[in-house]
Order: sequence, then C-alpha cells, then structure tokens
Amino acid sequence: IYLKPYNTFGIDVLAKHFVSVETVDELKQVLGLKDYPEKLILGGGSNMLLTKDVDALVIHVNLKGIEVISENDDFVTVKAQAGENWHQFVLWCIDHNFGGVENLSLIPGNVGTAPIQNIGAYGVELKDVFESCEALSIDGTILKTFTKTDCNFGYRNSVFKQEAKGKFIITSVTFKLSKRYHNINASYGTISAELENNNIAEPTIKDISNAVIAIRESKLPNPKEIGNSGSFFKNPVISKNHFEKLLKNFKDIPSYPVSDNEVKVPAGWLIEKAGFKGKRFGQYGVHKKQALVLVNYGGASGSDILELSKLIQKTIKRLFNISIEAEVNIL
Ligand code: EPU
Repeated sequence: IYLKPYNTFGIDVLAKHFVSVETVDELKQVLGLKDYPEKLILGGGSNMLLTKDVDALVIHVNLKGIEVISENDDFVTVKAQAGENWHQFVLWCIDHNFGGVENLSLIPGNVGTAPIQNIGAYGVELKDVFESCEALSIDGTILKTFTKTDCNFGYRNSVFKQEAKGKFIITSVTFKLSKRYHNINASYGTISAELENNNIAEPTIKDISNAVIAIRESKLPNPKEIGNSGSFFKNPVISKNHFEKLLKNFKDIPSYPVSDNEVKVPAGWLIEKAGFKGKRFGQYGVHKKQALVLVNYGGASGSDILELSKLIQKTIKRLFNISIEAEVNIL
C-alpha cells in the first residue's frame, strides 16, 4: 500500500508489506512471522521522513483504549494504549479534569510514540507526567515494563532512541495526573501573552490547552493542509564560550541556560538568520511562520526534503559553526 495517509509529511512511498494490529496478541503474532526479518513500526507517522519505498514489513500499531487504573483525592493513574491519538488523549484528560498534559495539546502523533522522543512544548515534557510504559520486544516474546528511570529521558531523547532503539515496541503508556491541585504552567512567554490577551488571570487546564492550541495553530502548519513533521531539527546546545563569540556578531541571538557552561540556542532563529525562513523550492520548503519546520506543499519526495535539510545544516555550520541535528527520524 502507499504510505501517504500514514505519515504527516505526506510522502508517498510504497510499503510492499503492511499490517495494522489492534491487540497486543495480534502484534505478538505478527512479530513472530519469520518470513519478514525486517520490520518498520508505524505509530502516528508524525516524526518520520520516508525517503524510499519500504521493503520491511510495516506494522501499524493501532491499539486503542484509555482507562483509569487507580486514583485518590489528588491523583489519578491513567493507562492509554499506544495507538490512541495524542491530542485526543489530551482532550480526554481535560474533559475529565485530569491535569498535566494540557501544555502538550495539539502535538501530532500517538500516545505510544510520545515517550520515544520525550515530546515537549511550552515548558512541559512528557517525562513530567510519565509513570511507566509497557513495550513488547521486537521478536514478540517479552512484554516489559519500563519505569521512568528505565526510560532515561532527556531533551527529545530516551532509552528508545539509544540502547533500546529498534528493540521494543511501546504498547501502552501510564500517566500520573492531578485531580484537585493542578500544577498550572503558564510561564512560557507566548502562553502568558495569549492568556493576557484573553483577560484570563487564573487559567484552568482548559484555558492553558486553548492558549496552546491558538499559538500552535498560528505558527505551525496543520499537517492535513501542508505536510510536515513539526520541528525538523533539535535546538542545539553549545558552550557559553562559543555563544559569547557569536554574540559579538549577532547581538539578538536568543539562548536558554542548560548548565554552568552550556546554553541552548533556538535552531529556528539560526535558520531564519541564514535566510531560509519561508523559502520555497518547488513543492517543498521552509515554513513561513516557523523556520524550524520543513514543509511538503504536495508531491515532494522524501529525498527532496532530506537534501534541503542537508543544505540548511551546511549553511548553519558555515555561518555559526554549529551542527544542528535532525529531530525527525529519516528512513
Ligand atoms: N525563532 C525565530 N525564528 C523562527 C522560529 C523561532 O527567530 O522562525 C525564535 C523565536 O523568536 C524564539 C525562539 O526561536 O525566540 C523559540 O521559538 P519557539 O517558541 O517557536 O520554539 P522552538 O524552540 O522553535 C520548541 C520545540 C517545539 C515546541 C516549541 C514550544 C524543539 C526542537 N522544538 O520550538 O516542538 O512546540 O518549542 O515549546 O525543541 C516539535 O518538537 O515538533 C515541536 C514543534
């Protein structure tokens, strides 16, 4: 089948073998199929760039269900299956007045892929609400529980991008959410501005979610209209020394502290400064409102976008002596 409907970049490559699974047992069976040694696991398809036809067996993880596991007056433990759409899960939490994921509203993708890159936005990361996840070994034999410590979360990083890469398939994620005293996080500049504009002094989790949705809709292209995978690159971490040198030539360069001798610099700023923001090359280009996002206007190939990403990396290296790394998985 053609994979265009299964990846938010809207890249049309052919999967020679494709199966969608709805239960862990089905997944075990499929993983046991000896005829297909190579497997490609597909969740929401929101963080991948497909650059060629896929020979591997594509397994679409379509496990569904959200349930409350336990609760007391203050907290609730909720388990969601991997194939639940992330944003639908966030809305479900807000409907039940369960707090903790509202800042992560409207992030594309599924629940089961969220831990892999420790999704984050507007001052909150998945790890802040994560309790554990279950994952099936790639040969389908062992269902293992990963605690938060096991996951070793970092900025857009986890054990699933490191030692456990390619070895496990996440089947469900368990979250710890608040019921009474929500830890409202409105510190991110654009959120507080959005709330102020709407005269909201004491925001509820619903208000935060609405603010995040409004900001994301104003900056990030809707994959249903323009193919994209959100941030294409990670924000690079550089030494303070290096940063001080850059400041001499680029007085307005933003930064966030990371440690005593390192800062994080927004890749979107670097790419904009390099002149790529809004640049269109035929059917693909750099988004006009957020330079960190590469877009497919329709009909671009994965290698077109990969080439553009390499050109951007080379230019950033030349101008700022900074290496920026793709955040999206390139296949
Ligand atoms: N900036 C520019 N030009 C641009 C884009 C950004 O100068 O074209 C500057 C902004 O002015 C601001 C800074 O860069 O000073 C940061 O911009 P923004 O708040 O938009 O956030 P970001 O660092 O570009 C990160 C995440 C996003 C997340 C936002 C909000 C990464 C790689 N990206 O982007 O995550 O939504 O913060 O928290 O960390 C994603 O991972 O797919 C994603 C969209």
